[in-house]
Amino acid sequence: MTLVRIDALGSGGDGIAMLDGQQVFVPFTAPGDEVDVTLQKVARDDGGRGRGASRGRKPDAAAAKAGGVARVKVGKLHVAGPDRVAPACRHFGSCGGCAVQHLSDDFMADWKRQQVQAALGRRGVDGIAVAETFRGGPARRRRAGLTAQSDNRGAVRLGFHARGSRELVDLQECPVLEPELARLIAPLRQVLAGKLAAKESARIAINLTDTGADIQIEGAFDPGPDMLMDLAAFADDFDLARLTLTGGSMGQVPIATRRPPTLEWPGLHVVAPPGTFLQADKVVEAEMQRRIAIAATGAKRVIDLFSGIGTLTAALPQTAEVLALDSAADAIRALRVGADKGRRTWLKTAVRNLMHDPLIESELAGHDLVILDPPAAGARAQAETLARSDVPRIVYVSCAPGTFARDARMLIDGGYRLTSVTPLDQFFWSPEIELLAVFDRP
Ligand SMILES: C[S@@+](CC[C@H](N)C(=O)[O-])C[C@H]1O[C@@H](n2cnc3c(N)ncnc32)[C@H](O)[C@@H]1O
Repeated sequence: MTLVRIDALGSGGDGIAMLDGQQVFVPFTAPGDEVDVTLQKVARDDGGRGRGASRGRKPDAAAAKAGGVARVKVGKLHVAGPDRVAPACRHFGSCGGCAVQHLSDDFMADWKRQQVQAALGRRGVDGIAVAETFRGGPARRRRAGLTAQSDNRGAVRLGFHARGSRELVDLQECPVLEPELARLIAPLRQVLAGKLAAKESARIAINLTDTGADIQIEGAFDPGPDMLMDLAAFADDFDLARLTLTGGSMGQVPIATRRPPTLEWPGLHVVAPPGTFLQADKVVEAEMQRRIAIAATGAKRVIDLFSGIGTLTAALPQTAEVLALDSAADAIRALRVGADKGRRTWLKTAVRNLMHDPLIESELAGHDLVILDPPAAGARAQAETLARSDVPRIVYVSCAPGTFARDARMLIDGGYRLTSVTPLDQFFWSPEIELLAVFDRP
């Protein structure tokens, strides 16, 4: 054991300290902490994100010095840093769901702002001050991907994987989740008991829509009549909007649709496909929509790229002509049906792979605004053509500051001005960062 002082927080949420002249990542620590550590393993260099340790490699300070990332086991905490707070959840420290529950809200909000600023700085984008983080909060996460696994006797563990492991943490509570979802964990575990084969696992996607919880259970099982009846009773007892079983020889089996699971935005109601993407926090979603509505003031022709089921389309002026594109056919179909029901003839939709087949300049021409909200990989190909376009305003929503900064560099090199960047903390207690940026062509 060696006593180290934590100097900073790495982008993966681990504390960073120096050990034998080598930087080490120390999980669940805070800047200013003084803790005992033991060198454990060295992974290939992951760019300082503090993730992705390779398994089974021996601790080796020399290998670490040669460019690896050294990981340590944490021992006794001797001195607590000034930003350390008591974590809210009993599973903190083992569960892989939350990495930074032990840090104050003020610290995390400013840390996320600094991370965005640093990501832009690494791409040479220096002339913009990243705004203060729009705050997140506990009990607001409305989307979760859990795993259930049966033991040899049919008892089920249900929760998130432990950090860096295949081991499941059997959740007894989850204070980051919307309470309406958290209350379902114990009964779900109970209803699945005895239904999965030994060591079999199932993935469970839970979305909280505006009409109730929508659960999709996915696994390679063939449900017998008992399982179907028990699951239907579970949906009734807990007033789920919908419960769907996916996988096995039956494909997708709708167990119960008690109400269509619907996102109800003003002027646009969309029934969510099972397991579809939702913004993780409804309060943050409303803030995103508010900012997009402001950015879209007066816009007559708008394109929503990576639209999903239309969360951001819903914020656009109802008088504007909108084209929404996404590669997920079920999401686009749901948006189409919602738009038709609401007589939104201004909305055009199409399925399109924007990574392989981005909109080209002639397709972008004549639009007042483009919104894009790509997955974490960013939108390199689309940013390239946007950089050459004459679209006067672009709103870029991102969940990955690194790829956002790469794409921002392209837009700026193409003549755009980065007008504002605001982190939006929809991944509370996690080091993940969401942001919304506005680019204008002067
Ligand atoms: C961060 S989500 C945003 C969804 C939507 N804007 C919203 O707010 O609900 C990213 C979206 O990108 C879509 N997507 C992923 N890869 C894509 C691709 N290659 N081409 C087009 N869309 C893609 C996903 O289906 C998903 O809907």
